[in-house]
Amino acid sequence: MFSRFKKPEPSAANAGLKPVTSAAPVAPPSNAPPKPTQVTARPLPVAPVRTPAEAIASDKEKKRKDKMMEIKQELHKRLLDNLNLAALEKASEASLKSEIASIAAEALDEMSVALNAADRSVLHQELYDEVMGLGPLEALLKDETVNDILVNGPKRIFVERGGKLELTDITFKDERHLLRIIDKIVSAVGRRVDESNPYCDARLADGSRFNCMVPPVAVDGSLVSIRKFKKEKLGVHDLVRFGAFTEEMAAYLQAAVATRLNVIVSGGTGSGKTTTLNALSSFIDGSERILTIEDTAELQLQQVHVGRMESRPPNVEGKGAVTQRDCLRNALRMRPDRIIVGETRGEEVIDMLQAMNTGHDGSMTTIHANSARDGISRLENMIAMSGIEMPIKAMRSQISSAVNLIVQASRLQDGSRRMVSITEVTGMEGEVISMQEVFRYERLGVESNGKIIGRFNATGIRSAYSDRFKQWGYDLPASIYEPIV
Ligand SMILES: Nc1ncnc2c1ncn2[C@@H]1O[C@H](COP(=O)(O)OP(=O)(O)OP(=O)(O)O)[C@@H](O)[C@H]1O
Ligand SMILES: [Mg+2]
Repeated sequence: MFSRFKKPEPSAANAGLKPVTSAAPVAPPSNAPPKPTQVTARPLPVAPVRTPAEAIASDKEKKRKDKMMEIKQELHKRLLDNLNLAALEKASEASLKSEIASIAAEALDEMSVALNAADRSVLHQELYDEVMGLGPLEALLKDETVNDILVNGPKRIFVERGGKLELTDITFKDERHLLRIIDKIVSAVGRRVDESNPYCDARLADGSRFNCMVPPVAVDGSLVSIRKFKKEKLGVHDLVRFGAFTEEMAAYLQAAVATRLNVIVSGGTGSGKTTTLNALSSFIDGSERILTIEDTAELQLQQVHVGRMESRPPNVEGKGAVTQRDCLRNALRMRPDRIIVGETRGEEVIDMLQAMNTGHDGSMTTIHANSARDGISRLENMIAMSGIEMPIKAMRSQISSAVNLIVQASRLQDGSRRMVSITEVTGMEGEVISMQEVFRYERLGVESNGKIIGRFNATGIRSAYSDRFKQWGYDLPASIYEPIV
């Protein structure tokens, strides 16, 4: 799709994309300006009025849930007393489930509790999750529509679906229950959390990114944040389909990555930085040696020649830490063609910029910032905080010669994630880094349901790298830089 601007030439990385000559007419922008829509004011939310019947039904439902939670706790205790925990590791899922069912049936009989078949099957699954998995979190981890799981104490579990946060009706029994599950997660990676060491980063068995903070630092109960690991990462085609950017922008980014520009993806938390970085990496040629460095390994590159590194926090005695900077310095001795740092957030910035400046062009990273200009300031701050004393002009000239492109990702109020700006760093004017925006997202209004109306547009500025693109065989037509008016 995007390589239609590339001279026909077979390449592993571009396999599957239709090659069309540069003479081919440019398709009309997929984000043609929307028909003028009347921008209406959103109605003020009205508190739902509950009828007495609804109130009784909801109280009944709450009582039923409390009762189920009580039964589950009791059964869980009995299960732990009766199950041969040492044999659990080797037991198959089916045999363990049938064991749980028979112990539960016996206990329910003793407790004189009668449950219907549906409740019983839910109970069996929850008991299985308690014994083998992460208790109440297990159902959310299996739910494909959930991106993030956020626990604010035992009784409030939020999830993020489609860019929006929602409160679930799933709860832990109490703080002890939540702490037990946290302990299970962190002890599996050889860590411990307690009063003296109240927070921890870890990776779940399925690859999800996990962070927790326990009381007393977490005031109202333990805080847990999980970024779910997606086996099927969103690719460039998916992102274009979801409206994260247009085909024209994708063609431009393909040219930028393939011609080895140094790219920074900037954005706020959960704005899709890592997803964008991962998608952009698909434009790297399959023959290149890529080294990736992350705090928690999330990137999934498609190329064959990839070396992945993950930094490591210090152990309980405060020893054995391997920082991103250590990994980066070591990576430079490992003959990389490109280096990808998952997120630059500290002292590694200086080594990253140096790598970008000294033969590892085509490197990429993400930073936490709200605009391209802000991103540059973040880089300056990180350099200053790493303790390196450098005159501001030298610092800026280092940044401007290292970074070629800043791609700004953003999560808009309606939950959609979009690439709101693509900005090129063009050099220095006096003491200031000069930049030019090539594409941007223009907001035009908002629909009555809160959905944002907008379109992607070119700014009318031709890329400073057009000649480079052409020399490398990416002959982007001038029309992609023309704005829609
Ligand atoms: N354009 C998109 N459309 C729909 N979902 C998206 C899009 N981009 C990212 N996502 C989803 O949003 C979630 C957050 O994305 P991602 O991990 O890339 O964000 P991030 O900016 O790297 O977050 P953090 O700051 O926490 O590292 C993921 O579950 C991802 O699958
Ligand atoms: Mg990320």
